[in-house]
Amino acid sequence: MEVVILGGSRQIGNLAADAIEELIRRKPDAVLGLATGSTPLPVYDDLADRHGQGLDFSRTSGFALDEYVGLPAGHPESYREVIRREFTNRVNIAPENVHGPDGTAADIPAACEAYEQAIAAAGVVDLQLLGVGTDGHIGFNEPGSSFASRTRIKSLIEQTRRDNARFFTSLAEVPHHVITQGLGTIMAARHVILLATGAQKAQAVRDFVEGPVAAICPASVLQFHPHATVLLDESAASALKLGDFYRHTYENKPAWQAL
Ligand code: F6R
Repeated sequence: MEVVILGGSRQIGNLAADAIEELIRRKPDAVLGLATGSTPLPVYDDLADRHGQGLDFSRTSGFALDEYVGLPAGHPESYREVIRREFTNRVNIAPENVHGPDGTAADIPAACEAYEQAIAAAGVVDLQLLGVGTDGHIGFNEPGSSFASRTRIKSLIEQTRRDNARFFTSLAEVPHHVITQGLGTIMAARHVILLATGAQKAQAVRDFVEGPVAAICPASVLQFHPHATVLLDESAASALKLGDFYRHTYENKPAWQAL
């Protein structure tokens, strides 16, 4: 796991966008794993700017990490809409190449299975963007999630519902259920880049980067990923024991070594 501590969310967005641009130039039909929430927004802003300067997404495809269950189609806070508004509408990804779990499906297990099959049909997720919850979740794999899990329905912990209430007019509107890629699904991506900003993430970051690998902290499974990059601002990195070591390592990284 490579831990990179940067000055702020703009620098984090820029470095993640560098990795995505390098991937798309090398492999124009790359498959991106897309996270929602607030943290990745600077990445999407940066990619929209790069598209304005000619970066071509026409052969790229994207798979959302997760979706609320029970929000009506087109609800502005459904993750399908958020991904569309914040990212895919701002670049030239073909709409048919943008996928998300169907949170409106009458048959949820069938929708989950169909989503896994769609990812498998695309080959492999080349680069998966992730945020992390204050409880250590990735996707919506809450504490206790199986490390082998695939896309399925999950219940949100109250802490996550409270954290996400800022996107809704009241806590009561935040759905209790979600469909999320499993930890096993996420671990199958070639490269994962997890972004975390703000002091409210410091404990979760300390737990998953430096704590034991345990289902109580789902993001800790990334310690087993062969290519995981963690981009942090100073506040999110503030509880790390080895912060100075990560800074030193990144500052002295050989020029030929990419993220
Ligand atoms: C979003 C997702 C979640 C968020 C996490 C952090 O698709 O899967 O795991 O990444 O809840 O959200 P923010 O970035 O809003 O703090």
